[in-house]
Amino acid sequence: MDCTFGGGGHSKAILGLLSAKGKLVAFDQDDDARKNLPDDERIIFVQQNFRHLQRFLRLHNITAVDGILADLGVSSHQFDEAARGFSTRYNSEMDMRMDQRQTLTAFEVLNSYTEQRLHKIFEQYGEVTNAKTIAKKIVEVRSSSSLKTIDGFKNAIREIVKGNPNKYFAQVFQALRIEVNDELGALKEMLQQIPSLLKPGGRVAIITFHSLEDRLVKNFFRRGSFDEPEENPFINTEAVNELKVITKKPILPNDEEMKRNPRSRSAKLRVAEKVMMS
Ligand SMILES: C[S@@+](CC[C@H](N)C(=O)[O-])C[C@H]1O[C@@H](n2cnc3c(N)ncnc32)[C@H](O)[C@@H]1O
Repeated sequence: MDCTFGGGGHSKAILGLLSAKGKLVAFDQDDDARKNLPDDERIIFVQQNFRHLQRFLRLHNITAVDGILADLGVSSHQFDEAARGFSTRYNSEMDMRMDQRQTLTAFEVLNSYTEQRLHKIFEQYGEVTNAKTIAKKIVEVRSSSSLKTIDGFKNAIREIVKGNPNKYFAQVFQALRIEVNDELGALKEMLQQIPSLLKPGGRVAIITFHSLEDRLVKNFFRRGSFDEPEENPFINTEAVNELKVITKKPILPNDEEMKRNPRSRSAKLRVAEKVMMS
């Protein structure tokens, strides 16, 4: 299973290792990903959110798989396509939807969420230093301007930008993107389905790009739950955790990879294995 087909780079590498009888199920919620599908009858493409993994696998009469890969976040294609609204480099509408069938856009978030909710999103998902101030500013300016475009939005909040503007806007955009696509909610739902989908001895590999995602993956692989141990010292998940951690520390890109692919800079790969039944 490749949960995040995107440009198909990982899927093509997996296909190169599969036998003639093997099957690869590739999910991507973005219809644009379909353009990258190889002409190979071993691949089954599902244009759905990976939060519905189990449901759509069942539709294809698949109840268990040997391996699951997810390479989270936005693809280079989505990021570099101005009209998708993911990048601070271009001026287009405040969209940021990975799945263009969904109704919630960044424009909706900016123009309809309460100040409190915006504050939380910028604080938690973007670690924006002045999250309260930016939320207040958005609510103040949106009554007179609709914050429809990226340039319009950036100009409207310019006077409250703190520190390096590129870094600041990157954090603000990250927060909006996580909210629009419910990225953490989808990741949690997907992780919870993994133990029952993997065959014993099967492996799950997840690549994350920021600490919020990485923490969820790390805790789930270690304990079968999302709780931080210090938050709930009474949980005893040893008995219920069906996964065994393979990578005690995450695997990081080396210098050569970072040079070749600067977007790999913040990537962390973690791997776990479904334990064998005794
Ligand atoms: C980083 S890219 C993957 C790139 C891919 N590994 C490759 O080799 O080209 C992430 C892809 O996952 C998709 N994606 C992200 N979250 C998703 C979700 N919850 N459900 C389905 N697809 C998702 C995005 O649309 C995007 O195309």
